[in-house]
Amino acid sequence: MLNRVNRVAVIGTGFVGSSYSFALLNQGITEELVLIDLNKEKAEGDAMDLNHGLPFAPSRTKIWFGSYEDCREADIVVITAGANQKPGETRLDLVEKNTKIFKGIVKEIMENGFDGIFIVATNPVDILTYAVWKFSGLPKERVIGSGTILDTARFRYLLGEYFDVDTRNVHAYIIGEHGDTELPVWSHANIAGTSIDKWTKNMDSFSPLDLDQLFLNVRDAAYHIIERKGATFYGIAMGLIRLTKAILQNENSVLTVSTYLNGEYGQEDIFIGVPAVVNRNGIKEVVELDLNEDELMKFKKSVQVLKSTMEPVFK
Ligand code: LAC
Repeated sequence: MLNRVNRVAVIGTGFVGSSYSFALLNQGITEELVLIDLNKEKAEGDAMDLNHGLPFAPSRTKIWFGSYEDCREADIVVITAGANQKPGETRLDLVEKNTKIFKGIVKEIMENGFDGIFIVATNPVDILTYAVWKFSGLPKERVIGSGTILDTARFRYLLGEYFDVDTRNVHAYIIGEHGDTELPVWSHANIAGTSIDKWTKNMDSFSPLDLDQLFLNVRDAAYHIIERKGATFYGIAMGLIRLTKAILQNENSVLTVSTYLNGEYGQEDIFIGVPAVVNRNGIKEVVELDLNEDELMKFKKSVQVLKSTMEPVFK
């Protein structure tokens, strides 16, 4: 029997969608890539530009500018379309505008028979992931937001830099809203299985304020990048690739994505960033960390901020 090919459809070929498509091609993760955008010229131009790079790519990927009809056979639809943060704007400021845009997009995709997994990247990602779940009617396991996948990467990178150790040996999570109320899970952070304290003890110049500032640099990274270059796109695109790979290659990897809580962490009826096992069927299970009192209080606050922002939108 012919191997069924993997198809990924990207809705939105702006900075994030184009960076994601470029990275997808270079990592050879899918056999088919469909670019969909209201701006036909841009999407067509991207498809042409990417196809011309194929001879340099690790494997063959069929790329074309398509339509919502191409979502029927898609395994994954990645939504990056919508307005993005302008300098001084928070992610939550985008909720009204982007929820409206999403209603139309998801309706078109579902009317064309999509029955795969949604990955949502547009902000405010936790609320828009909830919106895609509501609008699509798909099971919650098959609607995944990028959540704090990038925040966790930023946290691991900055910790690796601070302690001068390979970031791949740093295990530390950012959970909660992908935004101003996210929180670091210091109680479980470790380097090669050893506690952070063990590493700080050996540092003459260490101050606890360093780690507080390090977290603020993680939380506010997007603002600092947007001030400088107007948008963020490479980091989030690579986080989306990591998530796509975990799904298409059935990895059962633990990633901090925006997923539905149904009692975990004492919360329900919310999509929010927590560690979850990801495989070919989407979310296999939520990993419930044993948070300390301070972390649990901050997590609850993050949930409350999201719920109060969502209320008027889904009333
Ligand atoms: C950021 C965007 C993806 O944090 O919200 O860079």
